[in-house]
Amino acid sequence: MNSKPVSTSVSTSAAKSGKSPVRKAVIPAAGLGTRFLPATKTIPKEMLPIVDKPTLLLVVEEVARAGFEDVVLIQGRGKTAIEDFFDVSYELEEKLEREGKTDWLSSLKNIRNSINVISIRQKRALGLGHAIWTARPVIGDEPFAVLLGDEIMINKESETPVIGQLAQRFASTGLSTVAMMKVPDSDTHKYGIVAGDPVASEAGIEVLRVRDVVEKPSTGTAPSNWALPGRYVFDAEILRELADAKPGKNGEIQLTDAMQSIAKQKGMLASTFVGRRYDAGDKLGYLQANIELALERDDLRVDLTRYLKSLAGRL
Ligand code: UTP
Repeated sequence: MNSKPVSTSVSTSAAKSGKSPVRKAVIPAAGLGTRFLPATKTIPKEMLPIVDKPTLLLVVEEVARAGFEDVVLIQGRGKTAIEDFFDVSYELEEKLEREGKTDWLSSLKNIRNSINVISIRQKRALGLGHAIWTARPVIGDEPFAVLLGDEIMINKESETPVIGQLAQRFASTGLSTVAMMKVPDSDTHKYGIVAGDPVASEAGIEVLRVRDVVEKPSTGTAPSNWALPGRYVFDAEILRELADAKPGKNGEIQLTDAMQSIAKQKGMLASTFVGRRYDAGDKLGYLQANIELALERDDLRVDLTRYLKSLAGRL
């Protein structure tokens, strides 16, 4: 076990210059989405709407708000809907401009103006680790962020987005840093789980130096209750680990196996975060995200609240 102390203060030259060393983000969105069949037979689950925005747009907005320069979308077969969504749609956009209906367009334009959207094809869904590895021609030798395309993180405008929080910790420590959250014993089998030793933490944020990473442990065998909710910042070394990776659990190239090697060799941190998280790749999580985010909208709050109250009275 690596027992080097972890500094929580800014120490790398990149951090001193105020420029984040993490400029690129990868969003894997090439899974088969079997939990959402039949809808996902033709529609990628990352394009299913939360109220009226595709989940993936919420994830890309998080990347853009964190100030990254490039976002790499990993798409699978039949997933041109993703590429088309971020592309310009002249006829529609010109009509909306003419009619002054530019609310949703401005978010998309903001993204196009602030970040390069790059698409890469994962030819076969061989696992999350493999999906990330396909981004190597764009990532090269740089540290990079990973955001799962079906996990939503919501922050207040005044707060740093979750992926930005991890990038800041990477900048100050030089160590790969992943998000973690507490789950009950009954849920550990649904997640990658990390266990480790607590290190200095501040402002209600808990940080571990990771010792073990286990993919979806069977019930009763999890080494902790710290689950991985799909936000990571990695040293480029992880791509070399993935290049040599053998299929793990379920015959897939597992990201968690590569993370275990990085944790042992270079060290890795896991950190709690400020923000709300929804698992939009799970049916219940998807419904919760729709209801809660709709309740935050001025155009829906009053009517939806009235409806939910009347529904609760009938249950
Ligand atoms: P999931 O395991 O949640 O996605 O992967 P899945 O396999 O599509 O889901 P189900 O269980 O069959 O419903 C987490 C993220 O990683 C991507 C998925 O698209 C999702 O956003 N992923 C997964 C890939 O890009 N490629 C893969 O080979 C596997």
